[in-house]
Amino acid sequence: MSLDNKLVVVKTSKSKYLAVIDVEKEFITNEGKFSFSVITNIPSKVQSSTGVEFKIYHPTYKEFVLLMKRGPQIIYPKDIGQIILEADIHKYSNVLEIGTGSGALTLYLLNIIGTGGSLISLDVSKKNQRRAKKTIDRYMSTNDFKNNYNLDFITSSLVDFNYKEYAEVIDTVVTDVPEPWEFFVNNTITKDLKWVSYLPSISQITKFNEVLIDNKFENIEVKEVILRDWVVDKKIVRPSNKLVSHTGFIISGRYIKY
Ligand SMILES: C[S@@+](CC[C@H](N)C(=O)[O-])C[C@H]1O[C@@H](n2cnc3c(N)ncnc32)[C@H](O)[C@@H]1O
Repeated sequence: MSLDNKLVVVKTSKSKYLAVIDVEKEFITNEGKFSFSVITNIPSKVQSSTGVEFKIYHPTYKEFVLLMKRGPQIIYPKDIGQIILEADIHKYSNVLEIGTGSGALTLYLLNIIGTGGSLISLDVSKKNQRRAKKTIDRYMSTNDFKNNYNLDFITSSLVDFNYKEYAEVIDTVVTDVPEPWEFFVNNTITKDLKWVSYLPSISQITKFNEVLIDNKFENIEVKEVILRDWVVDKKIVRPSNKLVSHTGFIISGRYIKY
């Protein structure tokens, strides 16, 4: 089987890189270089020109999104986990994502939903959606999930989005845009809907909380995920020196049609 075009992590004791195998080319770093053509298997180990050992293997989702080239700021994996839980997303969910961005959340939603449900992803920027689509295709093709998902893009500003056209299908909305309240300028919810918004600033949360209440959402919760890595290395067992102190807040609620 040809390994050309496969997505891999290239790891040394010091660094981790994301690479796409091109058998005609070399992989060059300041820890030495090697020709992609010497990779005969994934996973495997190769030696660089300076004798450094490089480990080659397929990336996990987390490695992929943290190492990939991106446009807009992505939602970090720690927050994605909580968003999925708060939005109650499962393999039969039909989700509207507002703010495709770099596609990091889109990709994880697709991993969960697969072909059981569907995902519609809205963004005002065609450019961002094109980049996100490439990212998704790259990840999916390497993981043999190709075409095993239902994804449609809508290119529109949120304020112009006509929810009515999709209301029958959508059961969950997840947003990563600065002003999710724009949704409610021209739309009213009339059927059961779960809603989760990711917002960096508490002033946005305060405002959106009011909007959710005005629109008859209930079970509203606001939370923040603070994740602390630990170093566990024989004699050293302690929290890591590095801590991402703030990424964003998560606000969730439910519209229930009694
Ligand atoms: C921070 S990015 C989303 C990142 C994405 N969640 C990820 O994990 O890769 C926000 C995106 O929302 C889009 N956006 C911002 N305001 C919008 C609006 N009012 N209507 C539609 N899209 C909007 C931007 O174009 C941008 O691509």
